[in-house]
Amino acid sequence: MNKIKVSPSLLASDFGRMGEEARRIIACGADWIHCDVMDGDFVPNISFGQPMIAALRKYTDGFLDVHLMVREPGRYVEEFAAAGADMITVHAEACDHLHRTLQQIRAAGKKAGVALNPATDINVIEYVLPLCDMVLCMSVNPGFGGQKLIPEVIEKIRRLSARLRELGREDIDIQIDGGVTEENAAELRAAGVTCLVAGSSVFKAQDMAKAIAAIRGE
Ligand code: DX5
Ligand code: ZN
Repeated sequence: MNKIKVSPSLLASDFGRMGEEARRIIACGADWIHCDVMDGDFVPNISFGQPMIAALRKYTDGFLDVHLMVREPGRYVEEFAAAGADMITVHAEACDHLHRTLQQIRAAGKKAGVALNPATDINVIEYVLPLCDMVLCMSVNPGFGGQKLIPEVIEKIRRLSARLRELGREDIDIQIDGGVTEENAAELRAAGVTCLVAGSSVFKAQDMAKAIAAIRGE
């Protein structure tokens, strides 16, 4: 069983001070730092790219969990790896050749994740699981922070968790991203989530350390 991790999303942070924000979440007990890269094409919003990852790398030794909401991300894998990403997650829906893109991430020496939009079934990753360290289940339609969790994703996570157990691949993390709060985290962990991304609920909290601990289930 994987350790439960919390990966606060910098999308909800103060963009003018992102390096310090990354240090702050780690000081408040975050396990990973979730970096949402948006290209304005695969998703209807633009955030930041590889120069920001390189800048963050100079500020923190924390684990940079980079979520690429980018069409054909294989074009940029080597650049994100060189910038200092520790894990690179790509969307199944955004890759014509998902298997090849995951091979590229592994060849760059990084952990590899596959993200699935709310409408995408878990069967699309069946044949790439040997190349996966994590499956990210989107619990909102990607592009924006502060949305409400789509409840159907909980059943999807139960199915994914059961399938990974069946295959003896419980080493693969199950990440949930979008609308995670202190209130719904327990149900998500019980469904099999091992890594919870949280943007607004961490950055808007009165006490960030307490919010992170509560989401982790402490
Ligand atoms: C959405 C991003 C999420 C987002 C989560 O496209 O992938 O990581 O920042 O934000 P909250 O926790 O506010 O839903
Ligand atoms: Zn994300």
